[in-house]
Amino acid sequence: MKTALAIEVTKTSQSKLAQTDFDNLMFGQTISDHMFVADYENGEWTNLRIVPYEPLSLNPANATLHYGQSVFEGMKAYKNDAGEILLFRADANQKRLNASAERMCIPEVPEEIFMEGLYKLLEMDADWIPQKPGYSLYVRPFIFATDDYLGIRPSQKYSFMIFTCPVGHYYAKPVTVKVEQTYTRAAEGGTGYAKAAGNYAASLYPALLAQKQGYDQLLWTDGKTHQNIEESGTMNVMFVVNDTIITAPTHTGTILKGITRESVLILAKEMGYVVEERFMTVSELEKLLQAGKLTEAFGTGTAATIAHIAKININGVDYELPAKGEDAFSNQVLRKLDAIKYGKVTDTHGWIRKV
Ligand code: COI
Repeated sequence: MKTALAIEVTKTSQSKLAQTDFDNLMFGQTISDHMFVADYENGEWTNLRIVPYEPLSLNPANATLHYGQSVFEGMKAYKNDAGEILLFRADANQKRLNASAERMCIPEVPEEIFMEGLYKLLEMDADWIPQKPGYSLYVRPFIFATDDYLGIRPSQKYSFMIFTCPVGHYYAKPVTVKVEQTYTRAAEGGTGYAKAAGNYAASLYPALLAQKQGYDQLLWTDGKTHQNIEESGTMNVMFVVNDTIITAPTHTGTILKGITRESVLILAKEMGYVVEERFMTVSELEKLLQAGKLTEAFGTGTAATIAHIAKININGVDYELPAKGEDAFSNQVLRKLDAIKYGKVTDTHGWIRKV
């Protein structure tokens, strides 16, 4: 992409590439050499730059530290066999970042700043994109308030940044989950649909309690009745019953509108599955599990892609789900998604952008 915007570039003099062990990547721990930064001041985004990835210096009165005005995105870049950089549905991430920003009173980042900053960053750190199956470059755009002011009001200054991390699988094995019916992740009218930092902070304590009991994640239920299954901590959740895929609808505003979620549902319909965007209730799930009638359960997300669920705990009872073979829907759809993302098949959906 030819950049039309003025983006000042400062290259690192000490690339970390040579010291990076691409065979042992812990999600989010290995960060590439550069980051894109833009500042919001006096009502406009300015000072667009790419600089070496480095720590930030923050005033202790920084508004984000106190009041959490911060939103983020997650997306992935891949390399095809020819070594070209492919981005999966970056336009959807850009739109979702701004939808989250609006809810958190954060100014939107114009599409051209997001895209041109991202493309230039990926071109500069292209050697950081792993070319192995299942591996990719995770891209983390985020916006946060930078006013140094303790009064409660929307900040007047912000930073928009993008940095990237080479990653492998987020979950090394199928996950175990516990249905949460005490704590609430999101309430109607709240911020559940936004990728807001605070949503993740609020979910940590209940998730930690479940982890202490041996479960990887929670299956969140709605905040009002705790009867409807909404999503998991890092993913949307799907259930398969014979040839029907059931996943929570997003109209309540309590559920993240997952881009992987939407992509899987589109592919499922093309594969001849019936898609039901409706709530699976806890008792329906319990009955399906008791009768051995739940064909599959899995999470979908950018980081996780497709994460098989191996065990579900409801009201203290563990239900094991048998391992899934190659012909299971979740594995078929994962192969289809990967083929598109790595440029192995023609992209008939307009999901891939070549950088
Ligand atoms: C993602 O899948 O990109 C996410 O944002 C989940 C994350 C919290 C790891």
